[in-house]
Order: sequence, then structure tokens, then C-alpha cells
Amino acid sequence: MTDAGDVVELGDLSDLRDGQIRAFPDLGTHGIVVCRVAGTLHAVVDNCSHRDAKLSEGRLRGGLLTCPLHGAQFDVRTGQHQGPPASMPIACFAVEEDGAQVTVRLGADG
Ligand code: FES
Repeated sequence: MTDAGDVVELGDLSDLRDGQIRAFPDLGTHGIVVCRVAGTLHAVVDNCSHRDAKLSEGRLRGGLLTCPLHGAQFDVRTGQHQGPPASMPIACFAVEEDGAQVTVRLGADG
């Protein structure tokens, strides 16, 4: 587990293509999911805001990550929920990709 506010190196994610996701279960409180959307990496907490479900087991389409349990959708670029059954957004974290080096800054609710 890491402390809130930590900057963590994720290594080389250049093999992660558009529409693909990768889970980092040991980061933060619930783990994080890194997603590539239109060439850019985004990171969100690996935990649905509705109940406890791993979003990394869901599906990413066009920037929307769908929870595998009840189908809530979240925009991985903002963490915003798109409607019921989720009533709250999820945490999203700043990602920087510099060639083969990717870092993520974990927040207090990560
Ligand atoms: S646990 Fe994700 S929608 Fe219910």
C-alpha cells in the first residue's frame, strides 16, 4: 500500500493501446486502473462508487468504464458517473507519460 499523495512509477505502458485497461491492485487503498483513451493515459480507483466491485473487471468503451456488477458507467477522464445505479463519481488521478516512463499521483481517496 502507498501513502496518499505519493507519486508512483508504473513503468512502461507503451504496449497499452486505445481501449485497453491495466490494473495495479497494490496501489492506493483499492488499487487503480489505468486506461488509454484516444492515446492518453488516465487512472481511476479500482472500486465502483455504488458497491464494492473491481472496475478493472469491467469494459472500457470510448472513455466510459462500465462496472461489471450492475453496469454503472464512469468517465475515466474525469471520474464522473454517468447515471444510476452509481450516485457518486470515482477518484481519478493525474498520470504523466514520458516515453517509457509513466507516473501516477495518488490522491487522498486513492
Ligand atoms: S457495484 Fe458497480 S454498479 Fe453496482
